[in-house]
Amino acid sequence: MSRAVTVTVNGVRYEREVEPRLLLVHFLRDTLGLTGTHIGCDTSQCGACTIHVDGKAVKSCTMFAVQANGRNLTTIEGMATDGNLHPIQQAFWDEHGLQCGYCTPGFIMAAAYLLSTNPNPSEDEILRGLEGNLCRCTGYVNIIKAVQTAAKTMSGSAAKKTTVTAGGN
Ligand code: FES
Ligand code: FES
Repeated sequence: MSRAVTVTVNGVRYEREVEPRLLLVHFLRDTLGLTGTHIGCDTSQCGACTIHVDGKAVKSCTMFAVQANGRNLTTIEGMATDGNLHPIQQAFWDEHGLQCGYCTPGFIMAAAYLLSTNPNPSEDEILRGLEGNLCRCTGYVNIIKAVQTAAKTMSGSAAKKTTVTAGGN
């Protein structure tokens, strides 16, 4: 028995028939071919599969695809715009916040959610915001630096936008 699922992923609408037991992470990777979302465990602990569901960070191995019906999803493939890396992606690059890169999509999506709710987090708040994500390579120091750098860049561009808007009136 299959069920119809309609989702919007990175601004594109998809309609598919799926088995009710299909996990969202498998739906993204195997049905839609969006393999940037990784699978790093089978215990919902590593966070490599983190995406946004209606703007909130969610481990996509903890949901069935049918539960995403009607929802708006963002995956790592939706972060760059017009060929330009998202400021968080750029900061991970600049601060060497990755080694093998396997955990990186999940960290970036978790960091994006953190910065959307707390644009200027303290180091403790970053640690808490990323506590659901594991990295086996970096030792986390450069990941934290990357999030701090991204926060600065993003608050700078937000300030610029505010100035332009204010100046444009
Ligand atoms: S694959 Fe989802 S938490 Fe590890
Ligand atoms: S960079 Fe290798 S697991 Fe994080």
